[in-house]
Amino acid sequence: MADLDSTVAAKDYGLGTPQTVPASPVKGSDQLDFGMRHRLGRIFAQDGRTVMLAFDHGYFQGPTRGLERVDLSVVPLAPWADALMATRGIMRTVVPAASDNALVLRASGGPSVLKELSDERVAMDVTDAVRIDAAAVAVQVFIGGEHETQSVHNMTQLVDAGLAVGIPVVGVTAVGRELTRDARYLGLATRIIAELGAQIVKTYYCDENFAHVTAACPVPVIMAGGKKLPVLDALTMAWRAVDQGASGVDMGRNIFQRQHPAAMIQAVRSIVHDGVDPDEAAEIYADLSGGASD
Ligand code: 5RP
Repeated sequence: MADLDSTVAAKDYGLGTPQTVPASPVKGSDQLDFGMRHRLGRIFAQDGRTVMLAFDHGYFQGPTRGLERVDLSVVPLAPWADALMATRGIMRTVVPAASDNALVLRASGGPSVLKELSDERVAMDVTDAVRIDAAAVAVQVFIGGEHETQSVHNMTQLVDAGLAVGIPVVGVTAVGRELTRDARYLGLATRIIAELGAQIVKTYYCDENFAHVTAACPVPVIMAGGKKLPVLDALTMAWRAVDQGASGVDMGRNIFQRQHPAAMIQAVRSIVHDGVDPDEAAEIYADLSGGASD
């Protein structure tokens, strides 16, 4: 027969211990609503950092090099990414719905490479992001660009729509050719994006005072990769960005345009999550790729 007395006595109401929940590891997110925090927790690991793999380039560039067949080139890299950033077209056709990566949906678009790139609009309804189970939506913001106000408005529209359903917004600093990627410009752009409500900011690394950019941004800054660089340079840039306060990286071409993309994403991951330095990470790339230098 069950020992009811001891069962009752074994109950523990934790009297005297105040109820708590752990603080969020994601910068600036402690006062957000539950769904928003839950989604941010899918993008950022417990260390507060993320390896996001960007392959949304087709939304204005078409089948750029390395992305001719996303199913062949990028999908096999998913196990080493915390988050995947793509358009809804690629999500629905190529990214396996069974994937357990956080999904970041490209939500702005309009002009192709043949036109003025800053002339974007919001390119999807947030209800579709809910249907896709997106962890965030991403929008370009062209501070100083020809269509600056329109692009800021695109972002604030998405921030309002995202707040209504608990989906965070990644504001991407889109730097026009005529603008200098220095700490002054990037500090201006990232701060405007965060002030106007984005929960994550993606921006480029700059050699001087990148720490000032991350310090002055009240939400996580993730580093954009940019054009393909030599392996060690790309890894050094990622290491420096994280060392100076970035909450991870959102890299595309520096991963998927390599001879050995799987080796590169593992090398990047070792920097972001394991604190490996760039030389060691380059060795990881060399080991996993059988000695490749590119
Ligand atoms: C387009 C984007 C892209 O997602 C991202 O910047 C491309 O990644 P990478 O520059 O590392 O190839 O936001 O502007």
